Amino acid sequence: MAASSTLRPLRLRGVAFPTSGLVSCQRTCSVRGNNWSLWHSGKRLASTATPMTPPAATAKRTKNAFGKYVFRASLVLVLLGGYFYVTDTRASVHRYVIVPLVRWVYPDAEDAHHAGVVALKELYKLGLHPRERDTPDRDGKLETQVFGYTLSNPIGISGGLDKHADIPDPLFALGPAVVEVGGTTPLPQDGNPKPRVFRLVSQAAMINRYGLNSKGADHMAEVLQKRVRDFAFAHGFGEHDAGEQRVLNGEAGVPPGSLLDGKLLAVQVAKNKLTPESDIAAVTRDYVYCVDRLAPYADIVVVNVSSPNTPGLRGLQAAGPLTEILKGVVGAARGIDRKSKPFVMVKVSPDEDSDEQVDGICHAVRESGVDGVIVGNTTNHRPSPLPKGYVLPIKEQQTLTETGGYSGPQLFERTVALVSRYKDKFAAEGSPKTIFASGGITTGKQAQAALDAGASVAMMYTAITYGGSGTVTRVKKELREEREKK
Ligand SMILES: Cc1cc2nc3c(=O)[nH]c(=O)nc-3n(C[C@H](O)[C@H](O)[C@H](O)COP(=O)(O)O)c2cc1C
Repeated sequence: MAASSTLRPLRLRGVAFPTSGLVSCQRTCSVRGNNWSLWHSGKRLASTATPMTPPAATAKRTKNAFGKYVFRASLVLVLLGGYFYVTDTRASVHRYVIVPLVRWVYPDAEDAHHAGVVALKELYKLGLHPRERDTPDRDGKLETQVFGYTLSNPIGISGGLDKHADIPDPLFALGPAVVEVGGTTPLPQDGNPKPRVFRLVSQAAMINRYGLNSKGADHMAEVLQKRVRDFAFAHGFGEHDAGEQRVLNGEAGVPPGSLLDGKLLAVQVAKNKLTPESDIAAVTRDYVYCVDRLAPYADIVVVNVSSPNTPGLRGLQAAGPLTEILKGVVGAARGIDRKSKPFVMVKVSPDEDSDEQVDGICHAVRESGVDGVIVGNTTNHRPSPLPKGYVLPIKEQQTLTETGGYSGPQLFERTVALVSRYKDKFAAEGSPKTIFASGGITTGKQAQAALDAGASVAMMYTAITYGGSGTVTRVKKELREEREKK
């Protein structure tokens, strides 16, 4: 052909191919698999590297390749869909599959607790943790004012779920505006012998006598300090002491404890079991030590004098000793090296509920300058089963005889009544205080009732152990629905 004499060598991926004998290739040239072929206007012209493939084999290979493509694409879609589903707190798999599965795999409730904490911690590191995906708080409908902060919602996670501050961020990702870590003690202590946590599944309740097992305030301070330093570095505030100080002084524009806009981190402190409760100076030193170490990393310091599992602890709620301890704590919290100081709350027992006891606590709160009260904690009582008249299975009747604090929905009515009493008492004294409610809150309706009774935040623990990682999201959704009804 005349055209062939004008052809130049063809270059494909840097290799020169002779073009003599071919029709001119002026438009598209391509290499397919091992063969290279020249195409012109969509028509295959020649292939020189290997012999031509029979059309049937080519069709088969194309079909196989297409099949593989479809399979891989489907796999990616399934994994991606699975990832978005499982990591979304709205997924019912958390409540109806994961929780029963965990109970089945870990018959001991403490093992399940430990496994849950480890799982959340590791999943968070991998970015695979459950989270609120469409940030439902964005609508501002649940916003509330607490200690001068505008919180994104009035729901909190109570103390004891994250005893060693292993997972504050994964817990915040579940949607609460307040996360309370601890209780921690000055020195590490083991707590009571195991088993020490028991489920009452029919009641969605628990009995625990952990006894404030703690890795100690120094350990928690290290963990929280590292968290602040990592945050400072990641957000361009520098490293080490300098970066930490800038964040703690509020330069990042977020609360120094939670490190999240519209959220607060509470750190709970307690005394060591071996510190004699009769020696109030020593007890105060215990609390103050914890505050010195931990308050820099907290938005709220919570004083625990209400755990039923540390002998003599609840006796510290008597007005005299409580005033002394709280004065020590408030002084220490105000003395920390940080621009804004943490607020101080005291967590009280639902069992110390006589007028005299409530009066005594209110007096201590007022005298010491404490900012608020968390009402209440687990109870030493054994409330009647729900629904009314329900007879517990034999095994659960035996569980009821275990020593320890009872928690779960059966506490709810007493919690609301006690919140209301504290609110009225503070109001009558002319010094209103911030109240958080803790005890039996399981639904949005109950959260709303606790808020209506005078609480600023409704906290949950046991409901989360039975409802799984979607519980906070569900309760907030129900809360929105409650408010729309009004
Ligand atoms: C297993 C377990 C451990 C707890 N540990 C603590 C704790 O360390 N400090 C504390 O103040 N309360 C602790 N609590 C009490 C809860 O914070 C909460 O006040 C109580 O359970 C009532 O709320 P709920 O019915 O929503 O669980 C614990 C509760 C449970 C079930």
